[in-house]
Amino acid sequence: MPFLSFPRDFLWGTATSAHQVEGQNFNNDWWDWEQKPGTIKRGDSSRVACDWWGGRYEEDFDRARELGQNALRLSIEWSRIEPHSGQFDDAALSRYRDMLTALQERGITPLVTLHHFTNPRWFANAGGWLNPNAPSTFARFAEKSASVLGDLCSLWATINEPNIYAYASYMSHAWTPGYKNLFAALRVLENLVRAHSEAYHSIKSVQLNARVGWIPHIRPFSPLDPGSPLDQILSATRSRIFNEAVLRAFLEPNSHIKLTPPEWVREAYGTLDFIGMNYYYSEHAGFDLTRPSEYFTRTPMSPEILKLKEIFEYAGEVEPSGISNAAQSLREFEVPLYVTENGIFEADPENQTRYLVSHLIELHRAIEEGAKIRGYFWWTLIDNFEWAEGYAPRFGLYRLNIETQERTPKLVASVYARIVKENGIAQDLADRYGRAE
Ligand code: FCB
Repeated sequence: MPFLSFPRDFLWGTATSAHQVEGQNFNNDWWDWEQKPGTIKRGDSSRVACDWWGGRYEEDFDRARELGQNALRLSIEWSRIEPHSGQFDDAALSRYRDMLTALQERGITPLVTLHHFTNPRWFANAGGWLNPNAPSTFARFAEKSASVLGDLCSLWATINEPNIYAYASYMSHAWTPGYKNLFAALRVLENLVRAHSEAYHSIKSVQLNARVGWIPHIRPFSPLDPGSPLDQILSATRSRIFNEAVLRAFLEPNSHIKLTPPEWVREAYGTLDFIGMNYYYSEHAGFDLTRPSEYFTRTPMSPEILKLKEIFEYAGEVEPSGISNAAQSLREFEVPLYVTENGIFEADPENQTRYLVSHLIELHRAIEEGAKIRGYFWWTLIDNFEWAEGYAPRFGLYRLNIETQERTPKLVASVYARIVKENGIAQDLADRYGRAE
């Protein structure tokens, strides 16, 4: 395989989120959820996390720079910026100004997410994303953030993974507020689309050069038995609900059949400057009448996947071609794409490196075939607090010792650094690590 080079000005970075790295994040619904026994594996807690709020973001930004990265995705924590409804905290905003300045000083372009799963306690207590006022409340926070931070950041993502959020929080019991109700999940999705649309305009009203996007999690589904019509219908339906329901709202109102409430939000049309795509796994789905609680789906798993699932419940088929299929499926939106998350946790000394190289080879193919991909963010820089899974899934380029806060680079850090430096994948890397398994 020849050297695979990426476009000039390609953004190479890592992705993080506030609650997973900052620590001392005590005013949101996730912190309250963590206090309930049995919600987080092994009783792990986000209490210190990677200690960014204690100041360690500086040394970690140095690490990102040392690896040659020119971009970093992070989120700002709504509950710090607006600790009480309508009251903004200048000290928190100025701390985020310090962080974004620290990135700029290192030549690193920030991509800032406004909502990455956590909600201020007051917002959650008022019904969270089921409250009809949620979209405008969120847009007010977005406007304030852009007006104070906009000179330091032009790439804004409103909502991270609305589909995962709605699923894990409203359909599967796994995350706060612990619902199991498809209709609630659809209402939440609808409100998230509205929130994005309102925030899009409120950000633009205070920052002319802002580019505002939305970050779905894309999980391609394919029929377990490609010849079975039932499996075909099932995987198409799952894909429609999970991958597309939240995105169809952004397509021209009359040009597509729109089935679910989130797709009907007419004001969403025209409010996308980019799509951030999070891709991790693909899924082969088979119809099974005996599994109503799993939405009639059977997803047989190899022993390898079952082992991965013990560490990270959401693990699925590692399928590098899924990243290019996902990128191609977003072409009809005709906006630039960023891969805002992609990665795997450490399972052996080389699996993260194989995952990285094999997915970048496929991403390169998608670009060659015309997908407008402008950047790639590996999840994540430092091992962090992985929500209900705690600290066991280690997605970082650096290994974190949570007790001592010591960071140690893994093999994947140096291989990623080389790819970034060369802005492409050399043949020896492709030969050595180019297969995911
Ligand atoms: C994604 C989340 C991110 C992280 C990774 C592993 O679904 O956006 O916060 O937990 O999974």
